[in-house]
Amino acid sequence: MSQENPDWWRGGAIYQIYPRSFSDSRQRGWGDLNGIRRRLPYLASLGVDVVWVCPFFKSPMEDFGYDVEDHRRVDPMFGTDEEFDLLIAEAQSMNIKIMVDLVLSHVAKSHRWFQDASKNPDSEYSDCFVWADAKPDGSPPNNWLSIFGGSAWAWNSVRCQYYLHNFLVSQPDLNFHDPRVRAEALSIARFWLERGVSGFRLDTVNFYFHDRELRDNPATDHRDEALTKDSNPYGFQDHIYDKNRPEVLSFLSELGALMREYPGTVTLGEIGSIRKRSWSLIRDYTDGDRLSLCYTFDLLGGTFSAPYIRDTLRRSLREAPNAWPCWAYANHDVERSATRLAPDGVAPDTIARLSNSLLLSLRGTPCIYQGEELGLEEVSVPFEQLQDPYGVEFWPDYVGRDGCRTPMPWEHAKPGCGFTSDAEPWLPIPEAHRQRAVSVQEEDPDSPLNHFRRVVAMRRREPALQIGDMSVLDGSDQLLSYVRSHEGVSVCCYFNLSGESVSLTHLGLEAAVIFDGRLDDWRQEAGPLTIEPWSWVWVRSAQ
Ligand code: BGC
Repeated sequence: MSQENPDWWRGGAIYQIYPRSFSDSRQRGWGDLNGIRRRLPYLASLGVDVVWVCPFFKSPMEDFGYDVEDHRRVDPMFGTDEEFDLLIAEAQSMNIKIMVDLVLSHVAKSHRWFQDASKNPDSEYSDCFVWADAKPDGSPPNNWLSIFGGSAWAWNSVRCQYYLHNFLVSQPDLNFHDPRVRAEALSIARFWLERGVSGFRLDTVNFYFHDRELRDNPATDHRDEALTKDSNPYGFQDHIYDKNRPEVLSFLSELGALMREYPGTVTLGEIGSIRKRSWSLIRDYTDGDRLSLCYTFDLLGGTFSAPYIRDTLRRSLREAPNAWPCWAYANHDVERSATRLAPDGVAPDTIARLSNSLLLSLRGTPCIYQGEELGLEEVSVPFEQLQDPYGVEFWPDYVGRDGCRTPMPWEHAKPGCGFTSDAEPWLPIPEAHRQRAVSVQEEDPDSPLNHFRRVVAMRRREPALQIGDMSVLDGSDQLLSYVRSHEGVSVCCYFNLSGESVSLTHLGLEAAVIFDGRLDDWRQEAGPLTIEPWSWVWVRSAQ
């Protein structure tokens, strides 16, 4: 772990791995920890600093590991506890850090605390969950909704009470008002820090606390919740009582104090919220010694347009000027960016080059979801093959998250695309992904993969791009531009988000030192400077 620079994460790049779909070392059709270990040379070749590994803990897998039965054990489907230690050690030897995904807000129904509390009203673990009596007519205690559909309350006939679940019925919510829950959360974090992890992605961090009075959420007039679609009434409410409670701040300070015992570690909180509230939450959650980073949803939704991105960046600087955000264009919960962002007729490769270079030049820490470096498109998974309960519930209005969770295509000529061999992959790998496999892209210097590597390498060399300040320039509907600057060096980043070429000559840029990802270094361009449709250029100047 870097003792010299405990804030390495500010300039670092995060790569997100969904282990079930990354690499299958045992040929069973799903990925595992040894599979990740086998691919460490690939991760090193990307130039990323840290890998966020989605949950691999013991789980009944109803929400694919986000329903944890035992936070301190590796689920046998992903390997053994020893294999995790090997992964950490080998990653460290290659200068790659590992972050684990702590799901602390809820547990699996099979978690021993819930097993006890749900069968025994006098259980010592009763208060670790949120129980409430029915209204006199038998209906749930309030209007809170589950993101995954229906009421957030499920009936328990032994206790004759409802329990709270913000996600699946099989993910009972933990009651963070109970000191044992908070102590257990900190103890789990310490357990993994002792095992050598470099930090945590904290799942649904703004859900930890609920309103003790169980007040009804009011209606909202801002239905832009990034996690939900119009098909889901969850977005109709202003979630001021079931989440976003003020008590979370003091818990995050306690967590921050624990993290400081392990210098050089990082915390990344996931805050799913409407845009109007997200930046004030990010500001508060990273204020003082709480979290290092918060994950913003702003680029996971919205439009791929200069005005939207400009407005988002300005909002971040205005509303949370001291926070260091974590930006992502994709993750395991949203449609692949090459599909979501591409206007009709624009190739996925073009969008991958553009969105990845944008992400890697923003003020904040970029997070790249596996396969985004390849420009993979969303896969259309037939209903009969759907795995995600969220998709099954809302299909066909919303088809769920399987389309972005399909296995990584490693080798186009091998069965199972080199992800697995003889076994049937747990989700289909379409022909289009085979053609974009790593093995194919390695051979092409202009592939999204090689472009990605050059951009990451340039970012690593330019402190202005890693840790520089950012000022957002006025632009047009076509052109997004901002300047990153640090110690006398400025890098002005221009992105043409339109189908027409843009000339930079009106900005006085006839000739300049530029980088556009085609070569691996800055080059002097004699001009006139023109940016092709859906392309980008960075211009460097030093005092
Ligand atoms: C994770 C999801 C998960 C949910 C419940 C999230 O925000 O990213 O994949 O289903 O939390 O844990």
